[in-house]
Amino acid sequence: MSKPTLLVTGGAGFIGSNFVLAQRSADRARIINLDKLTYAGNLANLEELRDDPHHVFVHGDIADRELLRRLFREHRPHAVVHFAAESHVDRSIYGPDAFIQTNVVGTFHLLEETRRYWEGLEDHKRKRDFRILLVSTDEVYGSLGPEDPPFRETTPYDPSSPYSASKAAGDHLARAYYRTYGLPVLITNCSNNYGPYQFPEKLIPLMILNALEGKPLPIYGDGLNVRDWLYVKDHCDALSLVLERGRVGETYNIGGRCEKTNLEVVRTLCRILDEMRPESPNVPHQKLITFVKDRPGHDRRYAMDCTKIMEELDWRPRYGFEEGLRKTIEWYLDHPHWVASVKSGEYRNWIQHHYNLPPTP
Ligand code: NAD
Ligand code: DAU
Repeated sequence: MSKPTLLVTGGAGFIGSNFVLAQRSADRARIINLDKLTYAGNLANLEELRDDPHHVFVHGDIADRELLRRLFREHRPHAVVHFAAESHVDRSIYGPDAFIQTNVVGTFHLLEETRRYWEGLEDHKRKRDFRILLVSTDEVYGSLGPEDPPFRETTPYDPSSPYSASKAAGDHLARAYYRTYGLPVLITNCSNNYGPYQFPEKLIPLMILNALEGKPLPIYGDGLNVRDWLYVKDHCDALSLVLERGRVGETYNIGGRCEKTNLEVVRTLCRILDEMRPESPNVPHQKLITFVKDRPGHDRRYAMDCTKIMEELDWRPRYGFEEGLRKTIEWYLDHPHWVASVKSGEYRNWIQHHYNLPPTP
C-alpha cells in the first residue's frame, strides 16, 4: 500500500515539527503541513525537509474554511493531526483573544471541514479508516493537591487559565462531533514536553538560554509547582500509536511519570550546564536563580496516569528525565543559528514586556 497522507496543523511549531520530522524520517506518511506561522511557528524547524517531495508546507490559518476545503479536495488525507494552537499560558493571561480564536473557533472550523470531507468520502474503507487526532493537554484537568492521585481520562475538566479553558473547549467540541456525527475523533492529553525546537518562552529552553548568557533564571512563586515532564520524541511516538491503533472516540492520557518541582528542574539543568561548560564565568549556574512574582491562577501540580495507553497500546516513555534534558541542552548548544534567529524576532519584545527586563544589547 502507498503511504497514507496526513493533514497536520501546526507542524512548524515545537511538537508538530518534531512529529513531522519523525514521520518523514521513517517515511511513514506524506505530510500536508498547514501552519499560520505565528511567533511560535518556525520554518527553520523543517529545514531538513526542504527538498522532500512528500512534505508540502501550506501557510495558512485553520480558521480559513475555503483553504481547508481546498486542501481536503486536493490532497484527500487519510487522517488529520491537529497541533495548531496558541500554547503559552502566560500569553493567554495577557491576551486571551488569540487563544479563543485559534483553539476554540479555529478547532471548530477544522472539525466542520473535516466532517464535510469525511461525510463525502465514497470509498467505504477510506471512510472507515479515517481519523482526526486532537493533540491536547493535561492542563484541562486543573490542579492537583500534593496527595491527589494523578489525572485519569475520566477526571472531570476543571481548567484554570484562558489557555487551558480554550483547549478544554476544543476537546469538548471534538467529543461532541464524535457523539453527534460519528466523526472518528481521537483525543490525547499530554503533560509538559521538552526537547529540540521548543520556543524559548517555555521553562526549559528559557532557562537554558538565560543560563548560557548569565541572565537571571526567573522562577515563579516558591518554585514548588510540580509538572510531569516528557521528552518530545516520546510524545510523538505515543501520537503515532494512537493514530494507528487508538480506539475511535477515546481519550488517551500521555505523561512521563516524572513529577518534578520547577526548582528541581532548573537546579538539574544548572548542574548539567556546570559539567558541560566548566569554564563559563556563570558556574555555578544556580546562582542565577531569581524568584519572581507568581503566575496568576498558577496550577500547583500536574501528574498523568498513563495506564490506559500503556496497557492498550503498549506505549512507554523511552527517555529518562536527565537523559532527555542532556539531549535538549546539547541540541540548544549545537544550534546557535536557530537560537539567534528566534531571539531576533518578537521573542525579545515578549521577554522584555513580560519580565520587565532591560532590552538585551
Ligand atoms: P507551539 O506554540 O510551539 O506551536 C503551535 C503551532 O501552531 C505554531 O507553529 C503556530 O504557528 C501554529 N498555529 C497557531 N495558530 C494557528 C492557526 N490559527 N492556524 C494554523 N497554525 C497555527 O505549540 P506546541 O508546544 O508545539 O504544542 C502543540 C500542541 O500540543 C498544542 O495544541 C498544545 O496545546 C499541545 N500540547 C503542548 C504541550 C507542551 O508541553 N508544549 C503539552 C501537551 C499538549
Ligand atoms: O502541561 C502541558 C502544558 O505545558 C502545555 O499544554 C502548554 O502548551 C505548555 O506551555 C506547558 O504549560 P506550562 O505552563 O506548564 O509550561 P511553562 O513552560 O510555561 O511553565 C512550566 C512551569 O514553570 C510552570 O509551573 C510555570 C513555571 N515557570 C515558567 C516560566 C516560563 C517559571 O517558574 N518561570 C518561567 O519563566
